[in-house]
Amino acid sequence: MTQIISGKEISEEIRAELKEQVATLKAGTGVVPGLAVVLVGADPASEMYVGMKNKAAKELGIHSRQISLPAETPEDELLGVIDGLNADPAIHGILVQLPLPGHIDEAKVIEAIDPMKDVDGFHPVSVGRLQTGSGECFAPCTPAGVIEMLVRSGHDPAGKHAVVVGRSNIVGKPMAALLMRKGRGGDATVTVAHSRTADLGAVTRSADILIVAMGRPEMITGDMVSEGTVVIDVGTNRVDDPTRERGYRVCGDVLFDEVKDKAAAISPVPGGVGPMTITMLLANTVRSAEIASDRAG
Ligand code: GUN
Repeated sequence: MTQIISGKEISEEIRAELKEQVATLKAGTGVVPGLAVVLVGADPASEMYVGMKNKAAKELGIHSRQISLPAETPEDELLGVIDGLNADPAIHGILVQLPLPGHIDEAKVIEAIDPMKDVDGFHPVSVGRLQTGSGECFAPCTPAGVIEMLVRSGHDPAGKHAVVVGRSNIVGKPMAALLMRKGRGGDATVTVAHSRTADLGAVTRSADILIVAMGRPEMITGDMVSEGTVVIDVGTNRVDDPTRERGYRVCGDVLFDEVKDKAAAISPVPGGVGPMTITMLLANTVRSAEIASDRAG
């Protein structure tokens, strides 16, 4: 029987642990972890994500502040808002929802966030520290969630050949860094493949652990996976489906029905990596508050 790795269940397990950590921190130090989520403009998908982040934070007892700014907000004004949050001791995590409107330089905004409050893990200092293993940093939430799914489902990457398909800054690159770092959830031998890889199937068939984050619906087919592989599907794609009332269905980057028969374990879409991203954002925020309270104490 193929094991189904449920991000939904693992998420619930981690959120229950975080709820206890929040209560312990509050009882011991009076500190309540604070998360600020900044949304510029009214993109419906972004509004939905931001709403989910706020709700999840509140459920754990995390103080959540949503700052919604109009789409035409000048860059300077946004940078001023970030400066204010950097200086605010009640805020331990700052997340600026991406994408930002075209007139705003995303890199400049990300670099304005205090790296100690960069719970998205996108600041160049966070990226550098993840690579070097020096200093405190927060790992980007989606790949950090994949590591938790592997470890908690009994598939520790140590010593295994992990193949990452995709090289984005948000998933592929930090995923490889997390898998190859020393310690819990790391110590893997890592190959990164992407859209320009020659004979992708030969590479994916060599994986013990296959993590797919390409953003291409159902691209990994059964013939591209060896028997016994552990498969994590990071993709979330909408494809037209006239048989569904809403006219589309959501699928991953892996052709689930074919690959599940060969895989030892596989994460589904939806209900796989998706719920883990918000959970790891909350985990980073709680850790940031713990670090801040240790420093103050
Ligand atoms: N937009 C889509 N995903 C993310 C994310 O993980 N963080 C931020 N800041 N914006 C996003």
